[in-house]
Amino acid sequence: MQTKIFTIKTAADTEQLNAAAKIIQNGGIAAIPTETVYGLAANALDGNAVSKIFKAKGRPQDNPLIVHISELSGWYPLVKDIPEAALKLAEAFWPGPLTVILPKSDIIPAEVSAGLSTVAVRMPSHPIARALIRAAGLPLAAPSANVSGSPSPTSAKHVLNDLNGKIDAVIDGGVCTVGVESTVISLADKTPCLLRPGGITPEQLKAVLGKIDIDPAVFSSLATGEKPSSPGMKYKHYAPKARVVILKGSLEAFINFVKENASESAAVLCFDGEDRMMPVRAVSYGREDVPAEQAQKLFGALRAVDEIPGTDKVYARCPIASGLGLAVYNRLLRAASFEVIEL
Ligand code: TXA
Ligand code: MG
Repeated sequence: MQTKIFTIKTAADTEQLNAAAKIIQNGGIAAIPTETVYGLAANALDGNAVSKIFKAKGRPQDNPLIVHISELSGWYPLVKDIPEAALKLAEAFWPGPLTVILPKSDIIPAEVSAGLSTVAVRMPSHPIARALIRAAGLPLAAPSANVSGSPSPTSAKHVLNDLNGKIDAVIDGGVCTVGVESTVISLADKTPCLLRPGGITPEQLKAVLGKIDIDPAVFSSLATGEKPSSPGMKYKHYAPKARVVILKGSLEAFINFVKENASESAAVLCFDGEDRMMPVRAVSYGREDVPAEQAQKLFGALRAVDEIPGTDKVYARCPIASGLGLAVYNRLLRAASFEVIEL
């Protein structure tokens, strides 16, 4: 299949938006920009269209998708009930990088919820994503637009590297500003539970909801046979082909460790300005004290180290795991399959 590329700079480009919306209305799949990462979108109410997403990504069938809406009114038909807490979250953080899980209504096809009784919903803030949802007049199911397991795409180029020829279209709307996926919170049980840290921090959620639980899978791998609260937690994620190892400690200790242990085929993932001090090839992912910059650059940097020929091991500097840094740490931890060395 030939993947059609739309370059859309503003939500006022209705001609191209309508053409892209048609593809989705006709049961096709298209990659779309959002403020977090690019999503691979299909009509969320059409199980057949949604199944094409799983095929193109090579996504395990039991991993449910997030449904994207452009107006609050679009949420009501998708879920059984919208509790007060959910409305408070929507008021505080939508449109934006927050996904809310609630018991689903009957119009959600099994392909979207992967057989669960709940559905994840998000209202993105990206003007082109919103305009496209409106033009299609449909809720859009969209996981990140990468091949399953590889780093999420934050540009149309990343999407094409992974999925060119496997999807109907890509809308190039520029580079994603947040850079890590949305925060996922479940309101399906008594206490709200954070399943995936992201663009909205735990502190921001607590300010609205009071007490929240944080799923243990945010910080550690699941024990063998343990049932995850979010199916995505059990899969290897965000990983380049090279093996990633996080080294926790000072810059000085990091450099010494790499000097003593790295072979010629190793590379490092470091903070801006540290590249020149590294004894092996280096890619930087933002300033050490600016988590928003790290979030925006991390996935691109993980892809970039894979493009250094012959790299088989990547030593990564460890970000500060609080605020937005928690999302950065969580993604890096998964890219490293939880391999952390304390220096
Ligand atoms: O920022 C984002 O959230 C991006 C953009 C495109 O919106 N989307 C995204 O989708 O990251 P995806 O499919 O790559 O990640 C969705 C995560 C998965 O880990 C999945 O298991 C979880 O959300 N999830 C979806 N529906 C769920 C449900 N009903 N219950 C528990 N977890 C759910
Ligand atoms: Mg994903």
